[in-house]
Amino acid sequence: MPDAVKKLHIKTYGCQMNVYDSERMAEAMGAQGYVLTDDPAQADMVLLNTCHIREKAAEKVYSDLGRLRPFKEAKPDLRIGVAGCVAQAEGAEIMRRMPLVDLVVGSQNYHRLPDMVAAVARGERPVDTEFPIEDKFDKLPERPATGRPTAFLTVQEGCDKFCAFCVVPYTRGAEVSRPVERILTEARKLVDRGVSEITLLGQNVNGYHGAGADGTWGLGRLVRALAAIEGLERIRYTTSHPNDMSDELIEAHAEEPKLMPYLHLPVQSGSDRILKLMNRHHTAEHYLRLIERIRAARPDMMLSSDFIVGFPGETDQDHRDTLALIEAVGYGSAFSFKYSPRPGTPAAERAGVDSDVADARLQELQALITRQQRAAQEAMVGREVGVLFEKAGRMPGQWVGKSDYLHSVFVSADEPMQGRIARVRITASAPNSLAGELIR
Ligand code: 5AD
Ligand code: SF4
Repeated sequence: MPDAVKKLHIKTYGCQMNVYDSERMAEAMGAQGYVLTDDPAQADMVLLNTCHIREKAAEKVYSDLGRLRPFKEAKPDLRIGVAGCVAQAEGAEIMRRMPLVDLVVGSQNYHRLPDMVAAVARGERPVDTEFPIEDKFDKLPERPATGRPTAFLTVQEGCDKFCAFCVVPYTRGAEVSRPVERILTEARKLVDRGVSEITLLGQNVNGYHGAGADGTWGLGRLVRALAAIEGLERIRYTTSHPNDMSDELIEAHAEEPKLMPYLHLPVQSGSDRILKLMNRHHTAEHYLRLIERIRAARPDMMLSSDFIVGFPGETDQDHRDTLALIEAVGYGSAFSFKYSPRPGTPAAERAGVDSDVADARLQELQALITRQQRAAQEAMVGREVGVLFEKAGRMPGQWVGKSDYLHSVFVSADEPMQGRIARVRITASAPNSLAGELIR
């Protein structure tokens, strides 16, 4: 008997925004009768939700498409779609290089996916990478319950900052904030479905400026309104720009206990010369003063950042300035990347740093970050923290969740803990997690 249910395999690359978008695409296709499968060999449709931020991520898409060729040969009516930022940036190129691709859908057009799949059935190869007037999220179906206590919620997309190395302003377009009421409605529905932690997403999330009933709201005010939702216990947001850390938002950190004490605030470099070349519009000093103000509001704030090493023109002294900034801040974690020239960005015109030099700098920086991360984890031992339990661990009776500071925490419990928030005393620190005991 033929299988009536169609299977969809989605592979997600890159950032949390893509994770959120993949979920929404799965829901859109779910309304068309598709169920998700982890196994591309089982799939009737494969969607790659791609990332363009660095060269490696973008090239991976082409090699992964190549790997799908035998599946398509075995099952000629397998549909293959490319979504996300590579689709947005080089849709036509994908269609030219990869005849096995049936459709290309840009990051703002996911609501059109079902129509595009119908077009493929009529023998077309649709490419849709326009920036539409309408909001894709309004056109997507309702979000079903997932059983998970945490959820992402996109509140803002795009970026107007034009850092000299970054493709985001081109792939995701100008900054657009979703209206306040839509966000509050989506949040209430998530809470009704059992979600107690929401992470607000945006490429430049603290630049949020959404329409409210009485004018434009910033992120601080949005956070306070969300915190008033009963049953919503934890709020996080990512990713932020130092220049958009408003007083209102910093105050919310001081006064709103549901706003978690963990902040991802990328600085990219600690050298003023490089920050200027990067078009960051702030200095290292400005960033350090900002961190002081944030810590004055919330003394236990755990900080994280992104760093780029080997940006064109970076000298040994610039690199040492970055290490000095890291020493001065003391991060709980951080991501670091070797600079990758991206077509169309201003920095790509300039000569890069010698690759071996950049590799050595990256190693040195990562070693420092790892030391800080370990120290921050060690410092948790003996302390009491809130933990939201997400799932059972591998051992019987073991449960794993995330602390207020986003550490993974393992405990033993003789009752189901999934979805519960409990106080935990941290007893030990392992390289990437903490162990603790429930406080009765
Ligand atoms: N090369 C290397 N890293 C980059 N990032 C953005 N663009 C590039 C690039 N061209 C990093 C930045 C950013 C993170 C998401 O990716 O650190 O904050
Ligand atoms: Fe890219 Fe972030 Fe700079 Fe915007 S603020 S251009 S997303 S690095």
